[in-house]
Amino acid sequence: MKIVLFGPPGAGKGTQAELISKEYVLPHISTGDVIRKNISNKTEIGLAALKFIECGKLVPDDLVNELLKSELEGKESYLLDGYPRTISQAETLGKIADIDVVLDLEVDLESVVDRIIGRLVCSKCGRSYHKKFYFSDVCECGAPLTTRSDDNEATVRSRLAVYEESTKPLIEFYKNRGKLVPIDGNGTIDEVFARIKRVL
Ligand code: AP5
Ligand code: MG
Repeated sequence: MKIVLFGPPGAGKGTQAELISKEYVLPHISTGDVIRKNISNKTEIGLAALKFIECGKLVPDDLVNELLKSELEGKESYLLDGYPRTISQAETLGKIADIDVVLDLEVDLESVVDRIIGRLVCSKCGRSYHKKFYFSDVCECGAPLTTRSDDNEATVRSRLAVYEESTKPLIEFYKNRGKLVPIDGNGTIDEVFARIKRVL
């Protein structure tokens, strides 16, 4: 099964991807995570991507496509999180894979700002938490929690504007191809996951 998990910043893509990936035993490929790993390893692509990610802009298509192709190599099934994000990326993906379904997490845009500003991320396993619901500075795996450098309010507003302009048109793109399934992304993590399971 090849799934795309789609939605604005903070929609819960990473949170739901972790649950789907466990339940259906699918590799979870998040381009955001892959880019952040390249940044912390100071690779050539990571260094080129840094200035875009820090101000909430999209990393150029050619860099992201290169990373994605190497992540997909040898995999028959996967769950994509945060890719594609432009029509050009969707066309590139269409040439290398036949996607079964695009799950579009629909959330109220003001609540995504709140979700992102309160996010804590494990420095080791990458798991996300929210300050409202988690009251420790250590992950369940034992490593310290940290915040993402692009999770301040100004950058979040810019990420949302980029989503509206460059990424949202993909909803029509996949709707026209009969692949898009809207999922109500409001409510608790478990409620959203139950809706996804009904579809899958
Ligand atoms: P990326 O890392 O993909 O970030 P994003 O799309 O902005 O989305 P987030 O990771 O912020 O949110 P999410 O939907 O995963 O939500 P999460 O589950 O964490 O991309 C970052 C940057 O990388 C981009 O800006 C761009 O520069 C670059 N990039 C990446 N891919 C690219 C591409 N293809 N092309 C070009 N550039 C690319 O949840 C958020 C918070 O809410 C967490 O705290 C979580 O605990 C909480 N939460 C989740 N669900 C719920 C719920 N139901 N109720 C309450 N709280 C919840
Ligand atoms: Mg994410």
